[in-house]
Amino acid sequence: MTSVAQGTGVGRGKVILLGEHAVVHGCPALAAAIDRGATAMARRSAEARLSISPWDVDVARADALPLARAFDALLTAMEIDDVQIEATVSLPGGAGLGSSAAIGVAVLRAIDALCGRSRDQSSAEELALIWERVFHGNPSGVDTAMALAGGVAVYLRNPPPGQERLRVVRPKAPFRLVIGESGEGASTKEMVDEVARQLARAPERTQKTFDAIEALVKNAELALIAGDLRAVGQLLDMNQYLLSSLMVSTSLLEEMCAAARDAGALGAKLTGGGGGGCMIALVDSDERASAVEEAIQALGRPARTILAGGNT
Ligand code: PMV
Repeated sequence: MTSVAQGTGVGRGKVILLGEHAVVHGCPALAAAIDRGATAMARRSAEARLSISPWDVDVARADALPLARAFDALLTAMEIDDVQIEATVSLPGGAGLGSSAAIGVAVLRAIDALCGRSRDQSSAEELALIWERVFHGNPSGVDTAMALAGGVAVYLRNPPPGQERLRVVRPKAPFRLVIGESGEGASTKEMVDEVARQLARAPERTQKTFDAIEALVKNAELALIAGDLRAVGQLLDMNQYLLSSLMVSTSLLEEMCAAARDAGALGAKLTGGGGGGCMIALVDSDERASAVEEAIQALGRPARTILAGGNT
């Protein structure tokens, strides 16, 4: 172990292509890292502090804010207290793009780099979850696993013995996703609690919905590998329908998905916890991407296109 004067770390943002919410209850989810995320720089300091730009956050570990509590929990788990972190995030918060996980992963990697420690994926996942639990209560771990690994992958919260939690998927070709921001603030924790209440109230019906989502995830993985984007699009639409039945969609998200489909998207759905946040639309050309972006912007909401499934 060789200590250095400063350490840096990166964590990626992600979109869940299919399977959010069901993944909390043990079903697989298909997710893709995106080209935005968080970076962090760690230095030794007498007082442990964390600053995040451009969010204008600067906390000490004893502060009461969730970010300070997450920082404190992480430092305790990493057995370090004399560190100062400057993080930069290029994702909107509370939008279903995994900003908290990306920051947590960037911070823990920066600390590891500062201390000259190396760590395998599963140990890093455990640590990042300690951070993430402060924000999300009962996270499945998909955000933190994707923030660490990048690429496209199927995530399973409790894999059978001998199987990894994260399995890399290699799409036949990179694919374009338009990401639209509803601008509606949403708490993933509240949405996850709401779905858990539905499961408690109507176990059979809710479990059937999860099973149906699981079937969509498995088919979407095969379709991505085969390069059948039309099929992936249809599966996204079906997943959106099931998410609406779990009552995690909103009228605005429905409107944005409908506008994207009308403008030529192959399929569209919310991504992440729902109740607001972002939606994604799959498109098969740059022209379609521009048309879908414009359709979402015509609703007064920001949209941009990313390329997923490449080296991200
Ligand atoms: O809103 P996000 O990006 O944190 O995604 C949440 C995804 C859920 O499946 C709803 C929750 C989870 O922990 O997997």
